Amino acid sequence: MKILKETENKITEMLAEMTVEEKIGQMQQVSLESFRPEVFERFRKLGGGSFLHVLSDEADKIRAEAAETRMKIPPIFGIDAIHGHSLLNGAVIFPSQLAVACSWNPELIKEMGKVTAREVNADGLDWVFSPVLCIGRDTRWGRVDETFGEDSYLVGELGAAIVEGYEEDGLVAACVKHYLGYGEATGGRDSYDTEASMRKIREVFLPPFKRAVEAGASTVMTAYGSISGTPLTVHRKLLREVLKEELGFEGFVVTDWYNVGSLRTKQMAVESYGDGVRLAIEAGNDMSMNSFQFYDSAIRQVKEGKIPMEYIDDAVRRILRVKFALGLFDENKKRLPRSVIGSAEHIAVNHKLTRESLVLLENNGILPLKETPKKIAVIGPNADNIRAQYGDWTFFSHPNASPEDCKPKSDYYTILRGIKTVFADSEVVYAKGCNIMGETEKSMLTEAEALAESADIVIAVIGDCLAQNGEGKDRANLELSGAQNELMRRLKKTGKPVITVLVNGKPLCIGEAAKNSDAVIEMFNGGDLGGLCAAELIAGRFNPSGKLPISFPRASAQIPCYYNQYNGWHGGKYMDVAEGSLYDFGYGLSFTNYEYSDITLSSDTARSGDMLTVSVDVTNTGDMDGYETVQMYYNDRFSSVLTPTRQLCGFRKVFIRAGETVRVELPLAVDAFSLVNIDEKTVLEAGIFDIMVGGHLGALKTAELSVV
Ligand code: BGC
Repeated sequence: MKILKETENKITEMLAEMTVEEKIGQMQQVSLESFRPEVFERFRKLGGGSFLHVLSDEADKIRAEAAETRMKIPPIFGIDAIHGHSLLNGAVIFPSQLAVACSWNPELIKEMGKVTAREVNADGLDWVFSPVLCIGRDTRWGRVDETFGEDSYLVGELGAAIVEGYEEDGLVAACVKHYLGYGEATGGRDSYDTEASMRKIREVFLPPFKRAVEAGASTVMTAYGSISGTPLTVHRKLLREVLKEELGFEGFVVTDWYNVGSLRTKQMAVESYGDGVRLAIEAGNDMSMNSFQFYDSAIRQVKEGKIPMEYIDDAVRRILRVKFALGLFDENKKRLPRSVIGSAEHIAVNHKLTRESLVLLENNGILPLKETPKKIAVIGPNADNIRAQYGDWTFFSHPNASPEDCKPKSDYYTILRGIKTVFADSEVVYAKGCNIMGETEKSMLTEAEALAESADIVIAVIGDCLAQNGEGKDRANLELSGAQNELMRRLKKTGKPVITVLVNGKPLCIGEAAKNSDAVIEMFNGGDLGGLCAAELIAGRFNPSGKLPISFPRASAQIPCYYNQYNGWHGGKYMDVAEGSLYDFGYGLSFTNYEYSDITLSSDTARSGDMLTVSVDVTNTGDMDGYETVQMYYNDRFSSVLTPTRQLCGFRKVFIRAGETVRVELPLAVDAFSLVNIDEKTVLEAGIFDIMVGGHLGALKTAELSVV
C-alpha cells in the first residue's frame, strides 16, 4: 500500500467534517451471520466501515446504499478467501496454505495471490483475510492446515509472496493474521494462552509479520488468544509499540471475530463491555469485527471523554487510507468482469501449483508406473470425497450456504476421477473401505479387500476429514483414525502394489501405513485439482518436487517435533519411540537424484551489514528433468543464548535437466544471524557460523563463516 500526500490531506479534511458516529461507524465491521437483521440494516443505512462474508450482488447493493450516506464513504468488503476465493462456489479452489507451502515456490504462490485477488475483485469484494502467518509447530492445533508450516523464515517468505500477489495490482487488500502466537497455544488448543517470552516473540512469531509488512500488507488481524496471560486484543505493547511504531505498519488492525466482546465473556479480562471497547481501542485495534456492543459503547465513551479522540482519528485515518489506496472512492474503481472467476487461465495456475504441492514421501521404485495397469482399485475414505480434499474454508461452510452449494460448480477432481481420467484405458474400480470417524462395518473392509485382490494395483486414499480440522477442532491423537490402519493392513496382505495418497489437513502419524505401502504421496488438502495431479504424478507425467514445510511425528506425544529446536543435554529422544521425526522438514523425494558439491562463500569473513553469496553445484544425476529446492541453513556454533542447530536462512527452486549441473547462488544477509540476547536486544554476535546447503536436512554440505 502506497501512502500519498494528497490522500493524507484529503483524509485530514474528512476527519474534520465527520461526526463521532460516522467515525466510529468506520471502525465497525458488520458480519452477515452474527448481526440481527435489523442491526445489519442499521449499518447498511449508516454506512458501516466494513461488511464481512457478503458476496456478489449483495455487496453491490450495500455499496450503493453507502453512496447515499452523508459522507459517502464506501464500505470495504472482507472475505475469507483462504485458498482462492473459496467461499464462493465456482471460484478456483487452490490447495490449502499448508499444501502450497510444499511447493517452496514463492513465485507461484504469488500467482495464487493474484488469481485470488482477481476473483475476489470480480465478485465485488475488496479485502481477503489471508494469509495466515501463524507458525504450525504444535500440530495438535486444529488450524495447522491454514499455516505455511513450522518455520518462521519459510512462513515469512511465502507470506510476503502471497501478500504481493494480493496487493500488487491494487485489486484487494491483504490481511495478515493472527497477530500473534496463535499457533502455539498451550496444548495445541485453539485460542488458549500462549506462554512466550519477548525473545521467542521476536525470534519466532514476529519475523513473518515484519516481512509481510515490508511486502506492503495493508491490514493485520489480532489473534483470539493471549500471550502470557495478556489478551492480544488489549496487548498495547505488541500492537501499538511493536507493530505500529517499531515495524512502521501504516495500515489498519482489525480484531478477530468478537474479540472485543470475548474480553468480557470468555477471557474474563474486563468487568464490562465498555471497558473492553476502551482497552481494545487504546491498545491499537482500529476496527472491530463483530462485537455489536462496540459501536454504541465507543460513541458514548468518546463523548464522555473516556476514549481520546486522537485514537479514533488515527484508527479512521488508517481505515480510510486503505480505502483510498484500493481506489474505493473512485467511481470507476477497477472491477474485473465476473467471467474471470474460474477462468481457464486461473485454472492453469492452480494446476501448476497443485503439481508442485505434492510431496513424494516413499517410493520403492514403483513410481512412476512403468506400464499402464489393466485394472486399478481406488480404495479409501478420501478417494472420492471432495469435502475432505478441499479442507476448511470453502463454500460448504459459508454461513449462507444453500443446498445447491453441496455440489461444487467448478471442474473438480477427486482422486477417483483423476485416476479415471489419467488412466482412461484401465478398468477402475472403487470402494470406500472404511470410515475416518466412527465405526466401520466389517463388510466395508472385506469389500475393499476383494476389490484390491481383483486388481493389478491399489491406490489407497486415506487421511482425515473436515470434522478433524479447523477452529476448535484440535486433536490430542494424531494416529490415523477409524479403521484406516486396519484397511491398510488388509490391502498390504493382498500382495498387490499399494500406492497411498494422503488427503489430510496436517501431518499424521502414518508410520504403519507407510510400511504397508510401496509409495506414499502427501497431498494435504489439494483443492480442485488435487486428484488430477496425484494421478498425473503416479503416471509419471511430471517429476514431483514438493518438500515438506512441516515435520511428521512418529507418535502423537512426540509433538512438538519441529526441526529447529535448541540442544538439550540428553539427546532429546524418547525411550519408547525412535529418534527424530518420521519425515523431516524440507524432505521430499523426486524421480531423479540431485548431488551437491563445491559449496563456496563469496567471503570467509563478514560483519554486520554485509551481503554474501553462497554458491553450490547441483547435479541432476538421474534420467528425468526436475525442479530441486536448494535449501540453506545456518548454525551459530557458540551463542550467548541457545540457538537452533539448524535454521533455514534461504532457498531457491531451480530447474535442472537430467545429467546437467547448475551453479546455484543464494544471497545471504549476515544480519540474519542476529539473535535476541538476554537483554531482549537483537544483536549479531561474533563467532563461527556453519552455512549448510542441500536438498534436505539429512544431506547438507557445510562451509564455515567467521563473523567479526
Ligand atoms: C477466524 C479468522 C477469520 C474470521 C472471519 C475467525 O473465526 O479466526 O481467521 O478471518 O473468523 O471469518
